Amino acid sequence: ALCASPIGIGSCAPESIVSNDDLAEMVDTSDEWIAQRTGISSRRVLAHDETLAKIAATAAARALENADVDPSTVDLVIVATSSPDDLFGDATAVAAAIGARNAVAFDITAACSGFLFALVTGSQFLHSGAYETAVVVGADALSRWVDWDDRGTCILFGDGAGAVVLANSGAPDLLGYELKSNGLDRQHLQLPYAGDERPIRRMSVSTGGYAPITMNGREVYKFATREVPSVIKAALSNAGIGPQDVDWLLLHQANIRIMETVADRLGLPFDKVLTNLAEHGNTSAGSIPLALDAAVKSGQVKPGDVIACAGFGAGLSWGAAIIRW
Ligand code: ACO
Repeated sequence: ALCASPIGIGSCAPESIVSNDDLAEMVDTSDEWIAQRTGISSRRVLAHDETLAKIAATAAARALENADVDPSTVDLVIVATSSPDDLFGDATAVAAAIGARNAVAFDITAACSGFLFALVTGSQFLHSGAYETAVVVGADALSRWVDWDDRGTCILFGDGAGAVVLANSGAPDLLGYELKSNGLDRQHLQLPYAGDERPIRRMSVSTGGYAPITMNGREVYKFATREVPSVIKAALSNAGIGPQDVDWLLLHQANIRIMETVADRLGLPFDKVLTNLAEHGNTSAGSIPLALDAAVKSGQVKPGDVIACAGFGAGLSWGAAIIRW
């Protein structure tokens, strides 16, 4: 267990909505196929004047307001993202935008596991006593990197951001965690660099750029349904509790069938599963805090509830954290 307590939450999703019917005008698909295979009905995408750092900062500012914390007292800002505006990182831009002028800020890249990895990383600094207050943001805009002609991927993703304020309150509210990665299977889900990797050797200017997301959906599906139940069980065991003690299951919002299978394998009824997948799709690092914010604000999640969170995705990477809200 780690002495780190969630004391505030906020989120931000872009205004523009892209429905399944909108996608059916772009690629050979249908609302019925997408809804049945994934559980997604629509997703939000960044407008031209919106940026990743902007939605990340709005989510963070809302979380600080919710926690009633003065931004100048924040010690640490971590932004989990795989789609920053600036490849050097967006965390300093977010810290500046929210007025966290005394904080150190850095990014973490771990695809759809990013928020979970950042949550555990931030909690270590609080548990050790190094810092008192941290803002952990998960934000992605994969709409920028998806091939909008590829029906196998473009139907899945949406853009969004969520943030949690953590404090060292002396209570071990991160009850247990378990993080995993496996680079040997990374080819199943990638966002490959397509520019010239070593332009200086050829004395030429790199034209740079990235190829769109590539994904072997079936392999990712098998990986998620195989690994997520066991990583949650390991985190629960580290916390000294079992599935029967879990009030809510909050998985990375990738596919409703993955959520059903994982709940089933843990012996949990589906009414314990928190989801906003239908309206947001897969927002990568944004998905867990975005869904949690909605569940907290609607009164579904109450103070003291035990939430089993799990992220999984490219890397491959996956992990679980058991949080007392
Ligand atoms: N509309 C209509 N038909 C489609 C579409 C579409 N959008 N996409 C694929 N199809 C077709 C395929 O071509 C195939 O046709 P065929 O049988 O004639 O060859 C058929 O539908 C079945 O395709 P599958 O890929 O086997 O479909 P599946 O049931 O596996 O669903 C899906 C695909 C939804 C992508 C699923 O595999 C999945 O959700 N996988 C997990 C993906 C995931 O979660 N990725 C994100 C991880 S997080 C991160 O790090 C970003």
